[in-house]
Amino acid sequence: MLAIQNVTLNYASALYGVESMPVVGWVISSDKKGVEQTHWQLQVSADTAFTSLIFDSGTVASDTSQNITLSGIELDHSTRYYVRVKISDNHGQHSDWSDAAHFISGLPAAKWQAEFISAEGPEEQASSKGSLLRNTFAITDADEVASVIVHASALGLYKLYVNGQKVGEDELAPGWTSYHHHLLYQTYDLTDLVCAGDNAIAASIGAGWYKGDMSFNRYRNYYGERTAFICQIVVNYQDGRQVLYGTDTAWRGADSPVLFSEIYDGEIYDARLEMPGWNRVDCDLSSWRDVTVIPADKKVLRAQGASTVQAIERLTPRALITTPQGERVIDFGQNLTGWVAFRVSGKAGDKVILRHFEVLDADGNVYLANLRSAKQRVEYILRGDETETYHPNFTFQGFRYVSVEAWPGEIVLDDIKAVVVHSQMERTGEFFCSNPDLNQLHHNILWGLKGNFVDVPTDCPQRDERLGWTGDAQIFCRTASYLMQTRNFFAKWLTDLHYDQTPEGGVPHVVPDILTDRCDNDRFLSDGCTHSAAAWADAAVINPWTLYLMYGDKETLRNQYSSMKAWIDFMRAHAVDNKWSYKLQFGDWVALDAKEGSYFGATPNDLTCMAYYSWSTLLFAKAAKVLGYEDDYETYFALHRDIVNSFQQEFFTPTGRLAARTQTAHILALHFDLVPEQFRERTVNTLVELLAEQDGHLVTGFVGTPYFCHALSNNGRAKEAWQLLLKDDFPSWLYQVKAGATTIWEHWDGIKPDGTMWSPDMNSFNHYAYGAIGEWLYRAVAGIDVDEAEPGFKHTRIQPVIGGDLEWVNARYRSGYGDIAVNWQVEASGDQQQHVVLSVIVPHNTHATVILPAESHIVDADNIAFTLRDNTCQANIGSGKYRFEYRF
Ligand code: BGC
Repeated sequence: MLAIQNVTLNYASALYGVESMPVVGWVISSDKKGVEQTHWQLQVSADTAFTSLIFDSGTVASDTSQNITLSGIELDHSTRYYVRVKISDNHGQHSDWSDAAHFISGLPAAKWQAEFISAEGPEEQASSKGSLLRNTFAITDADEVASVIVHASALGLYKLYVNGQKVGEDELAPGWTSYHHHLLYQTYDLTDLVCAGDNAIAASIGAGWYKGDMSFNRYRNYYGERTAFICQIVVNYQDGRQVLYGTDTAWRGADSPVLFSEIYDGEIYDARLEMPGWNRVDCDLSSWRDVTVIPADKKVLRAQGASTVQAIERLTPRALITTPQGERVIDFGQNLTGWVAFRVSGKAGDKVILRHFEVLDADGNVYLANLRSAKQRVEYILRGDETETYHPNFTFQGFRYVSVEAWPGEIVLDDIKAVVVHSQMERTGEFFCSNPDLNQLHHNILWGLKGNFVDVPTDCPQRDERLGWTGDAQIFCRTASYLMQTRNFFAKWLTDLHYDQTPEGGVPHVVPDILTDRCDNDRFLSDGCTHSAAAWADAAVINPWTLYLMYGDKETLRNQYSSMKAWIDFMRAHAVDNKWSYKLQFGDWVALDAKEGSYFGATPNDLTCMAYYSWSTLLFAKAAKVLGYEDDYETYFALHRDIVNSFQQEFFTPTGRLAARTQTAHILALHFDLVPEQFRERTVNTLVELLAEQDGHLVTGFVGTPYFCHALSNNGRAKEAWQLLLKDDFPSWLYQVKAGATTIWEHWDGIKPDGTMWSPDMNSFNHYAYGAIGEWLYRAVAGIDVDEAEPGFKHTRIQPVIGGDLEWVNARYRSGYGDIAVNWQVEASGDQQQHVVLSVIVPHNTHATVILPAESHIVDADNIAFTLRDNTCQANIGSGKYRFEYRF
């Protein structure tokens, strides 16, 4: 039977707030093999019965089932819409209509009548306390109401309440963007929360990224001096009438029980100051004050339809320990980002004080030094009720351990949970294998993502940094996009990258950029050194291209096109003979071949800069081609060839020696296709030699590490790639695993074999960068890879790199078309050969090529013809399940 399994809107299953018709896709289910869609029909309606159609595509002959953009649909604002699809396939089957997917349209900037209002005075610019805002609104003719929708945002952070209930699941809204250019609002359906007559609407406000004390330089008020809140309620009546209510001077303001809240430092909350009923209709307003309208720009308001930050998981404490120094410490068993939620009883004025941290020191005591100036401290002052519950409102912490500095009475672990907070994204990748250490590595990579995708992709979630470092986000983007559906998350961040680019196209080191003009005394970043470093700034090009590869997403590519081009042109403007440089370069950051105590690896900046220049230029040329900008394609493709020539002249001797003798230089040259073909073998051999010189260990940093295994396995050295991955003594990925890591460390030597630590000035234990090896687990070990010519896994290349003495691998990637699964099992076959059973699942309306080693002897081909092509043994397959057996 042919059916539509689910319909997605902008790659999400539901969208709350979208200003134009979302991109549509669907997953097909069928009991047949080789299913190809032949026709589709799509309807958009304002009702669930699809009687008020606003769009009907009619039957369209096409095999497209992802990335469908529908033009010419005018959406009313603040309205719920339904989308359904039906299809036919090449077997002559016809599906029924799918279940309806729904979305709520947003409120375009020009339609906002509400004002930004603040309960803070101008003198409170240095205050980190919270405030409350409230008003009532009346619903008349309640039985004629079709829906009640609210759009809300803040300068700062907000939590919204209607009639005493928190609205929606979002936390830390409206998130962090380049606020002066791009401020997101969230959209919620209030229909079931309101009643006839008077209703209360209220917001609790915190300083957050907008006004708070941010970055390692500790500047506050980067975006503004007073917090503010804005919301617009739209009551839709069945006859089409709309009545609007919004924030204005009739609202009232008050101080909140949040005495202090800062992203890095935590929160102080005095429950004795709570005003019962503050967010309900019946509230004593005598102590409330007037609010002020803040003249902020409403034109920058944009809908955030998906991927908001939410409380995603709750973890139970693993143990309560007493350290040798007598500290009481709760161990959650997992390094995570979020907060502690607890239940407590005591007298009014009793306190709970928690300090959050990542690792115990060598003696097993509380270790706070690597948090630098971040306090990660939460203080709750009890009001004296029988039972009180609390979790912080406007902050988050990175921690595995919590030191309990104060707690009334006995600590009962059942009353305490760790709440894992991150951007909401669908989980798409699963990887299990017969090697438990590799499974733990995969787990650690996944938790690196969870811990650092809190609205922006951050370097780390615990110390006084937590910034959108572009380099980290660049190298981890592909891995992240295997693990989770990252499209909306990255598309949002890339919008800010574009806004924060310099007029010349330079790309800030962190996005949103809060370093420019705020680094006067910084040893590296003063004198305008806050933008345009190779591998970091290249996020401008590599990340949108990665979204295109992984999701077939042309929309983000189109939106980012001028940003991508501006970055290439920046490098071009600063290049002489294609050798470019600009102020501060991070090079192969924190590589182990750095001089003692230095962060900068041994690979020359000239090489890193030129290598990335060539790679980004190639990807940009490809993007131009995809989008139909032929002239740009010609120009930048030629530029790419020119850069490659210059690279070869500059860095290869006439006999093929690569002038920089580092692992990373060889990795980049190989992976970015910069090696003259006649020197490829020599380059690979030298890379293997460089590995051997370290007894098989890597000494690479941020730039070389992500591609190390690819550079080996794509050049006939799969065995060495496996050996590298499976090393478990220092330095290696599995060294961290063996040391008990539950996330990825910033430094290979974060904790050294003798138990001492890398200097606390830069030693995060939750830094996803080296987790970029995850890409090799999916693309190479499982062998689930995209074909650039049919991106988004319309065509999948299945080419597992069997090895590492693994007995089996079981991996799954949920593409837009459905699950792609690869399972391989290896049995010794008596002789030198290995006997492999390879089972794969290919989603409907896609096809795949299974690629095995040329020397494979196929034992069971599942009735599929394998042929020798490109020095491999290949077969093309359509959708369905297959099982192959071969020896090699
Ligand atoms: C961050 C890194 C970042 C780097 C820039 C550090 O402070 O934590 O992850 O990429 O600075 O070199």
